[in-house]
Amino acid sequence: KRVAILLSGGGSNMMTLVDSMTGDHPARPCFVGSNDPNAGGLAKAAAQGIPTGAVDHKPFGKDRGAFEDALRALIDAHAPDIVCLAGFMRVLTADFVQAYEGRMLNIHPSLLPKYKGLHTHARALEAGDAEAGCTVHEVTPLLDDGPILGQARVAVEAGDTPDTLAQRVLTQEHRLYPAVLRRFASGDRTPVIL
Ligand code: GRF
Repeated sequence: KRVAILLSGGGSNMMTLVDSMTGDHPARPCFVGSNDPNAGGLAKAAAQGIPTGAVDHKPFGKDRGAFEDALRALIDAHAPDIVCLAGFMRVLTADFVQAYEGRMLNIHPSLLPKYKGLHTHARALEAGDAEAGCTVHEVTPLLDDGPILGQARVAVEAGDTPDTLAQRVLTQEHRLYPAVLRRFASGDRTPVIL
């Protein structure tokens, strides 16, 4: 299976996914892309010998469709079987999502369905939750809403800030996403619960 990974930032999730696709793993990375040509994750992927590319979303302004057409052309040039969103920070239109229906995954730093959208850790702390975590789900047209493929939980600790909680959750993201991808790439959609 060929896996394309989309990111917007440092790409720590991309790196753990790439590092996991070795040996008898049924998938290999075929492309790493971004909406930001300066995303740190692109250089990390290139250093691993993975084809990379970016479409800067800013020149497209409000024309989300034109941006996504350009991004899709880049992605599809590498013929992925699976697309993994990993710290990709653009909301995607239904057209884009439907082009990859049933084969696009996303990792979200909350225990979905709680805290869809942004600032998940601050919201969990604000609510006084005892637990937080991350979720891998299939991407569907509704934001952060598709079938859940995996979850990992962490305890919220006294004195936690959004940053300390984010770090604890990110550690679990790096365990969860590779486990979900391996299962998904082998055709098994049983959720991974860590
Ligand atoms: C992190 O906040 C993570 O929780 C979310 O995307 C952000 C950046 O991740 N999934 P990465 O280091 O670029 O993979």
